[in-house]
Amino acid sequence: MQLIHTIHDLRAWRKKQTTVAFVPTMGNLHEGHLRLVKEAKKQADSVIVSIFVNRLQFGQGEDFGAYPRTLEDDLKKLAEEGVSAVFAPNEKELYPNIKQDFQIEPPNIQNELCGAFRPGHFRGVATVVTKLFNLVQPDIACFGKKDYQQLHIIKTMVADLNIPIKIIGVDTGRAPDGLALSSRNGYLTVNERDHAAELFKQLSKIEVAIKAGEQNYALLEETAKNTLTQAGWDVDYIEIRNANTLNIAHMGDKDLVVLGAARLGKPRLIDNIEIHL
Ligand code: PAF
Repeated sequence: MQLIHTIHDLRAWRKKQTTVAFVPTMGNLHEGHLRLVKEAKKQADSVIVSIFVNRLQFGQGEDFGAYPRTLEDDLKKLAEEGVSAVFAPNEKELYPNIKQDFQIEPPNIQNELCGAFRPGHFRGVATVVTKLFNLVQPDIACFGKKDYQQLHIIKTMVADLNIPIKIIGVDTGRAPDGLALSSRNGYLTVNERDHAAELFKQLSKIEVAIKAGEQNYALLEETAKNTLTQAGWDVDYIEIRNANTLNIAHMGDKDLVVLGAARLGKPRLIDNIEIHL
């Protein structure tokens, strides 16, 4: 496995490859990331993973400084998975002009759901992903469905801007109690961890109700929000949306996704379940 820190070396590596599948990450890798790598391996001759904590996608007061940086451990895990290369640039390499004057502005959906609580977040994601796509020039890129809105924005960006990369969404990895795997689970106290699967359980209840024919989506959202709030969560949103457009779900939509974001103690957890009627 080749460890690459510079754009110059990355371009030299890329010239020697045939088909390339790419997994962009911010490091602190867990089983969820390794699922992306396993999928990537099925898709192309070489797999490259990037590890870069992207300042642009963190808002004021968010955990950019505290975000776990565990490069040595990450490299061991990736070597065991048989990854061809890891691109781990420092900030100067990717943002020589730290302001990054030219940014990628996603459409309005960037201001809804998580975007309503994290202004500028998806602009930061779209900008770094575009830079990484231009640098790595992969044929395929894999993203987790846990970050459903991110995946939607990236798919839209690639389609609208004719970026010749196939985007693959990979199902969310879960702990045995259902908690979606996330680097931010590491911030949970032992007691919080015992209750952290409740978000997934509430989303699952909505799924069961919709599949049983319930059509009052507002009531389902409100009930889940209230249940979580009473259990001590600080809920940002629980929403049922059209899975293809991420617009508000309407009666008759067959592909739905129920998404939620809530804080349990310090960490803000997100999760979602796709529902196909
Ligand atoms: O999902 C993530 O880890 C990040 O948002 C990404 C796609 C690596 C961009 O920094």
